[in-house]
Amino acid sequence: MATVEALLRDAIARLRVAGSETPRLDAEVLLAAILGVDRTTVVAHPEGPVGDGAAERFETAVARRESGEPVAYLRGVKEFLGLAFAADGRALIPRPETERLVELAELEVGRRLLAEPRPAGAPPIRIADVGTGGGAIAIALAVRLRARRMLDEMEIVATDDSPEALELARENAVGHAVADRIAFRDADLLPGDERRFDLVLANLPYVRSDVIAGLPVATSFEPRRALDGGPDGLEVIRRLLALLPEVLTARGTALLEIGADQEAGIMAAVAEVPGGWRCTVERDLAGLPRVARVSRGEG
Ligand SMILES: C[S@@+](CC[C@H](N)C(=O)[O-])C[C@H]1O[C@@H](n2cnc3c(N)ncnc32)[C@H](O)[C@@H]1O
Repeated sequence: MATVEALLRDAIARLRVAGSETPRLDAEVLLAAILGVDRTTVVAHPEGPVGDGAAERFETAVARRESGEPVAYLRGVKEFLGLAFAADGRALIPRPETERLVELAELEVGRRLLAEPRPAGAPPIRIADVGTGGGAIAIALAVRLRARRMLDEMEIVATDDSPEALELARENAVGHAVADRIAFRDADLLPGDERRFDLVLANLPYVRSDVIAGLPVATSFEPRRALDGGPDGLEVIRRLLALLPEVLTARGTALLEIGADQEAGIMAAVAEVPGGWRCTVERDLAGLPRVARVSRGEG
């Protein structure tokens, strides 16, 4: 019977040759997932025996990883803000960069609820997650607001124009027990029949079309539609900006994830929205531009 150590040694060598930047991590994570243990157990017990069935499943996973398939799709899970999200080819794998957007959204909701006492019977705070993919933003925000007992005062709508992505998002919402708190809608950006939103959140595709072919091979397993932002990367975001005057409440705010090189581009795009809109850019922990905050000039 094979041991953990022997299987890992072989897999790490193969994944290194295949071009993985993290061959040891990939191999350990995949073997741990197949054995149903956490990675530290695999690392701590190199002498552990691995049955033939598990060894075969590991071989299949390593071969798929060698071809570039992302570890998250092979495990079927990706962590986002400490929550486990089902991940597969139906939607983009949630990225750590997007966690900043959820944190900012939570702060914004808290500010609105705590800074101004709300009279009994005040309408709920309406939040949209546009291009929800596997649901990470809407679901993580709902889970965090539930923990702070704020969720009852929210109405959350999550949209995507990919029915497959919405299917995965609904599954994730069920997994986190917030399926009854988020309305998932199949729409091009936002459905026309919705009431205005206080908060519009979006991590829309923002990769320049000409850059996509040069991205790491793992991204080729993700839906191109989730990545491709057109010639300057801002095509889809610009379409959403054009909708803001009619979808945001008077004091509403949009928080839009952008690429690290798109600060000037998003400023210029917001300047083109009629009516004098304001844009500031929030940075991530590395100091890189990450989230554009857009609101009416007078707000
Ligand atoms: C970068 S992915 C982000 C997914 C998810 N919000 C996340 O952060 O992990 C962009 C998502 O926007 C969706 N999308 C692209 N164009 C859209 C449009 N015009 N209307 C609605 N959704 C769109 C894609 O299908 C994809 O799921």
